[in-house]
Amino acid sequence: MRTVLSALFLTLAIAGGALLYLWSRPDPAVDAALNEALIKELRTRGYTGLVEESLEERLGRAVDLRLADVGRFLFFDPVLSLAGDNSCSGCHGPNVSFNDSRPISIGVGNNGVVGPGRRGPHNQRRAPSLINAAFYPRLMWDSRFTSVTFDPFNNAQGFLFPEPEGSSLSHMEHLLGAQAFTPVVNRVEMAGFQFSGDNDAMRDEVVQRVNAIDEYRRLFGEVFADIRAGALLRYEHLALALAEFQFTLIRADAPIDRFARGETDAMTVDQKRGALLFFTPDVRPPACAECHKVDAYANEMFSDFEPHVLAVPQVLPAFRNMRFNGPGEDEDYGLEQQTGNEADRYKFRTSPLRNLAFQPAFMHNGAYVCLEDAVRHHLEVYDFARSYELDKLDPDLRASVGPVEPMLGRVQELINSSRPLPDEEFDQVLDFVRNALTDPGAHPDSLRALVPASLPSGLPLHHFEWGIQSPKGC
Ligand code: HEC
Ligand code: HEC
Repeated sequence: MRTVLSALFLTLAIAGGALLYLWSRPDPAVDAALNEALIKELRTRGYTGLVEESLEERLGRAVDLRLADVGRFLFFDPVLSLAGDNSCSGCHGPNVSFNDSRPISIGVGNNGVVGPGRRGPHNQRRAPSLINAAFYPRLMWDSRFTSVTFDPFNNAQGFLFPEPEGSSLSHMEHLLGAQAFTPVVNRVEMAGFQFSGDNDAMRDEVVQRVNAIDEYRRLFGEVFADIRAGALLRYEHLALALAEFQFTLIRADAPIDRFARGETDAMTVDQKRGALLFFTPDVRPPACAECHKVDAYANEMFSDFEPHVLAVPQVLPAFRNMRFNGPGEDEDYGLEQQTGNEADRYKFRTSPLRNLAFQPAFMHNGAYVCLEDAVRHHLEVYDFARSYELDKLDPDLRASVGPVEPMLGRVQELINSSRPLPDEEFDQVLDFVRNALTDPGAHPDSLRALVPASLPSGLPLHHFEWGIQSPKGC
């Protein structure tokens, strides 16, 4: 009896293995059909896979590598922080692919660490990665910094910012140059609470400190003749340099780009199936690409750059230095903070989706530390929002979860009508999003060489934690 049974099991196992093999083996006919369908889908959307190469053409000039290098020093240098303890790299760390190393940013009052060990009072949102941000027509989670033409390379109709900046930064060549005026005047991010004075006074003070450093004057002098001749730096020079550095952070050569350029085996069969589920509106809801757009102004960045209500659980950090919204002061009202319009409550910009394989947390507040949960949230929004628990986040983020029902009452229609996908299809979509949209050049190891050995100000660099493991249970 036993031999019969084991023979049966063996036969079953072999048959199962053969079936599995057949399923996973790229059947040439199936693969050809998938290629054809995906090529058609990408063509309809005008997807070229060439966005990375288009940077200098869009800019209308070559990237100035000397200016980018000064920008790199400034990016890492706490000299830009009036509080003295933070830099751009404190929240957009190279060791986390220029993402935030924590689910919600820690700005001033930090412990000098960039990584899971970063401690200090939290702000309100997660810092998005700066890789590829040069192609975003609108910046920030509520899209509050906008190029009016919807082209970040075109200032013809101005760059619109909330007051007090308004449209005063429209003379900058690129939206990132305009954006670079803002972090240094943000009190919870870099400026701190000691220095009194308005935004212009704060920028004047920062630029004075930089002007006093010979090495910065020398570096800027290599690019600008007037600085070489003795003119004083203006904040604009700093902003230009910071933007130029970010122009060197383009990593948009992912498998899907290679596929679009004709390398049909750059993606696996599963990723191609996932791509079709992602793009094709009538296969199953929600049609991811309805919001995570690639065409026209989206510059192949997988976002419509529009705000939507996704009802992401609201995380209130235990240790914080910002006042949250709502009657319990435990909410983030999103776009409403800017417009004052209640109809904009809980709206956040569709996240661009490149290089997520190297991102430590997801959504505007890092409520999810597993990519899988971030995707599943879209499909099972009611279950996910209602049963959310803070236990995957570190204790310093676990004060409480904000109200859920008011958000669910406003969920965007496409999300509202979503249903869970069968496991196999879900895995394909996840594989596509995680792996086919990730450029290996965005891996932290490839970015490590960008960290300067020392800074012109003589101030210490932050302590970057390398080799961060993804959290358990993902
Ligand atoms: C305290 C942490 C912190 C520091 C320091 C910081 N940022 Fe950010 N950054 C953020 C957060 C948080 C956001 C998103 C804020 C929001 O949407 O409300 C952001 C957004 C951005 C964006 C828009 C990205 C996008 O996807 O729209 C750019 C560009 C940017 N930061 C550049 C910089 C530069 C340059 C510096 C240094 C001058 C800097 N940041 C310093 C936290 C920080
Ligand atoms: C109705 C528009 C919409 C649709 C449809 C949609 N998304 Fe999103 N997605 C968003 C918005 C908005 C966010 C950011 C929400 C936030 O942070 O509060 C987001 C965030 C994400 C994130 C987190 C990325 C990050 O950087 O934090 C992933 C991953 C994602 N979406 C994948 C998908 C996939 C896969 C689909 C299809 C199954 C999909 N989305 C469908 C609007 C949409």
